[in-house]
Amino acid sequence: MPILFKIILLILFIVFFFGFFFTEKYLQLQHRFFSWYYKLIGIDAQFKTKSPTLTKITSLIAIVFLCFIYAAIVEDSNKKNQNATATQEQKTAIAETVNLEEPDMKTVYDFLKKCETYYLATVENDQPRVRPFGTVDIFEDKIYIQTGKVKNVSKQMAKNPKVEICAFDGSSWIRIEATVVNDDRIEAKQHMLDNYPSLRQMYKADDDNTQVLYLKDATATFYSFGKDPKVVKF
Ligand SMILES: Cc1cc2nc3c(=O)[nH]c(=O)nc-3n(C[C@H](O)[C@H](O)[C@H](O)COP(=O)(O)O)c2cc1C
Repeated sequence: MPILFKIILLILFIVFFFGFFFTEKYLQLQHRFFSWYYKLIGIDAQFKTKSPTLTKITSLIAIVFLCFIYAAIVEDSNKKNQNATATQEQKTAIAETVNLEEPDMKTVYDFLKKCETYYLATVENDQPRVRPFGTVDIFEDKIYIQTGKVKNVSKQMAKNPKVEICAFDGSSWIRIEATVVNDDRIEAKQHMLDNYPSLRQMYKADDDNTQVLYLKDATATFYSFGKDPKVVKF
């Protein structure tokens, strides 16, 4: 249910509910301005019911609106649960496709997607810098990440394009060492934004800030306890 509709329902509920139950003093104070309204809901300035039937009806209307609000809340929470289940199903689907036995570049992409958050390390002078990242996209057979040019991470990568990425899915983990290459083409940025609609609130393909970079000369190593590491280069 649209938020505006819910707000209207809530206002209607408050109007009808408090119209009936507000204090006498308040009613008297407001009577001058809202006499037409009290007439509508069937009470006078002394908070006496002129028409018991009318007040009963307005109370009933308030209860009906309350039921609507309750139904809207329940509907929303059901939807959220469904979405959570869908996301869980999607994750399971991705998890099933990630074959760590014979990994390739797509495995690396799937694994990062499955982890949702990975950690991107850059170098600033002689100091390593690391932060959480989430964006990952395959465009023209290359793995891309996204950031904003205003960020320190971007400035660090401009100075020293060597990066390392680490992510853990709960049982296996990946470490990718690579060199990042800035791609200023609108189509590369648009592809990323199309895959992350939530980013569109902050970034646009043709703004001066959005930046996408692809991983070059990458070596990705998959690790699991008790298993030999698997290496993939791309
Ligand atoms: C889960 C998560 C995912 C994130 N993904 C990205 C991302 O893909 N790109 C990005 O620029 N910032 C992302 N951020 C925000 C950066 O971590 C944050 O801006 C960080 O401070 C950038 O590093 P810097 O301060 O060294 O520039 C993410 C943050 C979180 C918590």
